[in-house]
Order: sequence, then structure tokens, then C-alpha cells
Amino acid sequence: MLKIVTKILVFSFFFTVMGGYSIATEKGVVTYEKDVKKVISEKCLFCHGSNSPTIDEFDKDKDGFKKKMKGPRMDTYQNLVIFVNGKDAGAVMRRLDDGKNTKDGKPGNMYQNLGKADNERAKNLEVIKKWVSNWTLKRKKELTKDELKAIKAIEK
Ligand code: HEC
Repeated sequence: MLKIVTKILVFSFFFTVMGGYSIATEKGVVTYEKDVKKVISEKCLFCHGSNSPTIDEFDKDKDGFKKKMKGPRMDTYQNLVIFVNGKDAGAVMRRLDDGKNTKDGKPGNMYQNLGKADNERAKNLEVIKKWVSNWTLKRKKELTKDELKAIKAIEK
């Protein structure tokens, strides 16, 4: 009897450990450093890089910068999360949505920059969605505290 109980315990311990392990490795945690930085630098920094204005500079002369094809700077984690869960929360989501969550069913105007073909865009969007965790197109003032907290956007 004791032997059986021991076996059950050993087995359940084993599966708990292995189960936890496979979840951690298969799903992984999507982080800025490991996954998102690469997508942003390949697809966005041409116009949102270190030569671009900060959001405060940008806001003072939007039209001027638009003409020069410059959007606000998103070259570091801190500069990017302004548009995810910071002052301009939800902006990345509103601009990158593929049309599934927008009112008019049209993709956000930065979605096209995610890749040359549909499958590349979908793949990169998926990475960013997982990173954001709570994909919402709401603006900062419409977000509840809990909704804001659910936007994870982990750095590393
Ligand atoms: C070809 C240049 C270009 C590329 C590439 C580009 N953007 Fe933009 N982006 C702009 C310009 C110009 C604006 C400002 C005009 C506008 O609001 O549409 C802008 C605006 C934005 C905004 C709104 C900022 C605000 O003040 O609310 C976000 C968010 C954004 N871009 C995200 C991205 C992301 C993420 C990528 C990469 C997938 C990207 N952009 C790629 C040029 C670009």
C-alpha cells in the first residue's frame, strides 16, 4: 500500500515538474529584449528611430514631421511603451491592428509596415500581441486600472 502511494506521489511530482517545464519552454514569455526589439528595429525604426523626434517634439509639429516621414521615436523600451501602456496607451495597438478589432474593419495605418506579405505581417503582429497581453484599442483615458495593468509589455 505504501509503495503505491509513493509511486503515485513520485509520478505526480514528475508530471507537475515536466508540465511546468514544457509550458515555460513552449509558450515562453515574450519580452521586449528577446522578441519585440527585433521586429521594431526591422520594421519601424526607419521612421521611428533615434533620428526621429521625441513624442513631445513630434506633437509640436506633427505635419512637418509627417512630411519628412518621421514618426515619434520608439528606439528604446522606454520610448516604445509610451505608446503601449504609457501616456499614449493603446496607440501601438490602434495603429497595428489588422482590422479584426477596429470599428470600420480596416487595419491600422501602421499595420502594412509589419511585413511585405500577409503571412509576415501576421507573424510579427502575433509576437507583438503576445507581448502586449491585453490587446485593446482603447485610449489611456478609457482604460480602467485593471485593463492598464493587464498590458504587460515586459522588458526582459
Ligand atoms: C515609412 C515610415 C514609417 C514606418 C516604417 C513606420 N511608421 Fe509609424 N508613423 C510614421 C509617421 C510619419 C507617423 C505620424 C503620422 C501618423 O500618425 O500616421 C507614424 C505614427 C505612428 C504611431 C502613432 C504615434 C502617435 O503619436 O500616436 C504609432 C503608434 C506608430 N506609428 C507605430 C509604428 C510601428 C509599431 C511601426 C512598425 C511596425 C511603424 N510605426 C512603422 C511613419 C512610419
